[in-house]
Amino acid sequence: MENFVFQNPTKIIFGKGVEKETGRETAAFSRRVLLHTGGGSAKKSGLHDRICQSLKAAGVAWVELPGVMPNPRLSLVHEGIRTCRREKLDFILAVGGGSVIDSAKAIGIGVPYEGDVWDFYATRDVPVKQMLPVGVVLTIPAAGSEASNGSVITKEEGGLKRDAGGECMRPRFAVMNPELTFTLPPYQTACGASDIMAHVMERYFTRAAAVDFTDRLCEATLRTIIRNAPIALEHPTDYDARAEIMWASTVAHNDLLGTGRVSDWATHQIEHELSGIYDVAHGAGLAVMFPAWMRHVMSADVRRFAQFASRVWDVEYDFAAPERTAREGIARLSAFFRSIGLPTTLKELGVTDDRFAEMAKKSVDRGEIGNFVRLDAAAVQKIFALAR
Ligand code: NZQ
Ligand code: ZN
Repeated sequence: MENFVFQNPTKIIFGKGVEKETGRETAAFSRRVLLHTGGGSAKKSGLHDRICQSLKAAGVAWVELPGVMPNPRLSLVHEGIRTCRREKLDFILAVGGGSVIDSAKAIGIGVPYEGDVWDFYATRDVPVKQMLPVGVVLTIPAAGSEASNGSVITKEEGGLKRDAGGECMRPRFAVMNPELTFTLPPYQTACGASDIMAHVMERYFTRAAAVDFTDRLCEATLRTIIRNAPIALEHPTDYDARAEIMWASTVAHNDLLGTGRVSDWATHQIEHELSGIYDVAHGAGLAVMFPAWMRHVMSADVRRFAQFASRVWDVEYDFAAPERTAREGIARLSAFFRSIGLPTTLKELGVTDDRFAEMAKKSVDRGEIGNFVRLDAAAVQKIFALAR
């Protein structure tokens, strides 16, 4: 096990009806906030009204900035920074999913920064030192941004989707009511499941030795999603299934599962190229790219892949030919993604070969990616070809 420091300060307020606590939680930080929301689902469900009532009751005033799109855009972040400065707002309340939260974080790091906020995303050389406090009311379990230290933003010009990170970027609180996820369309539920699993698998596939405890935590988290995602798809208002998925989504990406190990993250970098250019849903891109990445790197440690197959997918361990076990595990992962309605080929996403080389080159523009196996542009191009 590697040495590690683990500190996750995000306060989680979880369960039925907890959104009524939002005003009180927010008031502990500020009485003048930016209320940041997405494309309208929160208004449609009535959540928006309930949040406004809760803020009002707690004596919190707000200025609203709606309109965050999936794969959140830099231009709206710039608008949010201007609004916060002009209106002297010192707290951001994000009501929505990963896109709204990431946009809120970007605004939060942009307000106190003198340069262009994109500096934090364009390179790894500009450290994030400060962020306005951010609070979250989560409406989709997927990205894990409600307790993560990162934000992913798309710069429209050039279709660049890039991440920034820093420990100060973890939200102060996350209000999480699984009932709020009853209205999710099936495709978003499935995309969320795939993203949650990807966050675990990025950590699971490590070269660090003696990590049995976190291996088991990862396997339990994966099995929880494998069991509950189909239930939530069949019965969208099943509270218990929604609750299992929602809590798993936070734990999958709050860094607990990565303690003592070196995580990979190549597949996320590769997927961001797809989302940046083709505007595909992050979870759908991951469902296509993860099995392809696995097939490319499997030979570096076949036994880890065979362990994944036997412990997560109940594949019988073939001690004479662990590679066969490993391959069956990857096949079952793909089959699972298909069974919950996700694409498993680039073709289904409308992505053709002509931009593989460009995307591969862009994916390494901040340096080679991945830790399980280091990948250069040529390797990434091969992985795109495997995902055809
Ligand atoms: O905008 P609205 O109208 O709310 O609709 C959203 C959106 O269309 C809808 N939705 C959300 N909650 C709903 C709902 N519809 C009905 N009922 C509800 N309760 O779902 C759609 C997707 O929302 P989005 O926020 O984009 O989803 P998600 O949470 O999957 O976030 C994806 C973004 O997070 C980034 C991804 O790259 C992507 O841009 N990630 C952020 C990470 C982080 N900051 O730590 C890590 C992740 O790996 C990921 O990269
Ligand atoms: Zn992700």
